[in-house]
Amino acid sequence: MGNDSPGAGPGAGPGAGGVAVRVTGLRFAWPRGPFRLSVGSFVVRAGERVFISGPSGCGKSTFLSLIAGILRPTAGEISIDGEDLSGKGGPRRDRLRGDKLGFIFQQFNLVPYLNVLDNVMLPCRFSKARNEAATRVSGSAAKAARELIARLGLGEDLLDRPVSRLSVGQQQRAAAARALMGRPPLLVADEPTSALDADLRLAFLRLLAQECREAGSALLFVSHDRSLAGELDRAVEFNDLNEAGGAG
Ligand SMILES: Nc1ncnc2c1ncn2[C@@H]1O[C@H](COP(=O)(O)OP(=O)(O)O)[C@@H](O)[C@H]1O
Ligand SMILES: [Mg+2]
Repeated sequence: MGNDSPGAGPGAGPGAGGVAVRVTGLRFAWPRGPFRLSVGSFVVRAGERVFISGPSGCGKSTFLSLIAGILRPTAGEISIDGEDLSGKGGPRRDRLRGDKLGFIFQQFNLVPYLNVLDNVMLPCRFSKARNEAATRVSGSAAKAARELIARLGLGEDLLDRPVSRLSVGQQQRAAAARALMGRPPLLVADEPTSALDADLRLAFLRLLAQECREAGSALLFVSHDRSLAGELDRAVEFNDLNEAGGAG
């Protein structure tokens, strides 16, 4: 009912059969400082889960910000789920990001005065596509949020707790639930585990990878912790990707 948008056939996950991320001839430099980024070609297939590692300062966060359209490249093209990001102006980039991308930030960036449920619902307030996807899967966005919160191991007693009163591990799970809301074609996670102990890091990555598979979302997971590299479909060393060799 009311769910007959073209191409949204039953079982067709986000970006089914397509490419989640395509980067071509990407170049970027910060206005000051020696850092240079140059990525000739980088592709993440729909639903593929990719681990990117590299030492602190090598440019991982800069690369993710470019992919998310938070930073604008000096040259090159970036497309997310088949839609070109680089050619678009601010508002259209923001909309594309809201529709297509779930971002788990290193510091989580939850809205401190909102409770867990309202934080997890946020993508559905900013994106009609995410709201429709969540409703299609679960009946309503609120129900989808509750289901995700439970799947990520957060108890029902936490639903109406302000996120400022969560532990780091709980914040991380809330941020993951928010990113997964409405099954975006791409999830991006920027070292979301660096504050956790080693065994919790591994458990979180496994849970996130499993939820991405369930949602059909591709995952780009960035970490300096190479011991986690074998957990996903593919592992890439950022310094091999960056032809400019960082500060070189
Ligand atoms: N806002 C900024 N302005 C100028 N230089 C920056 C800025 N953010 C990061 N850099 C520089 O860009 C390089 C890559 O940083 P970053 O992408 O944060 O690396 P990583 O995430 O791998 O630790 C570093 O040399 C860093 O100092
Ligand atoms: Mg970083």
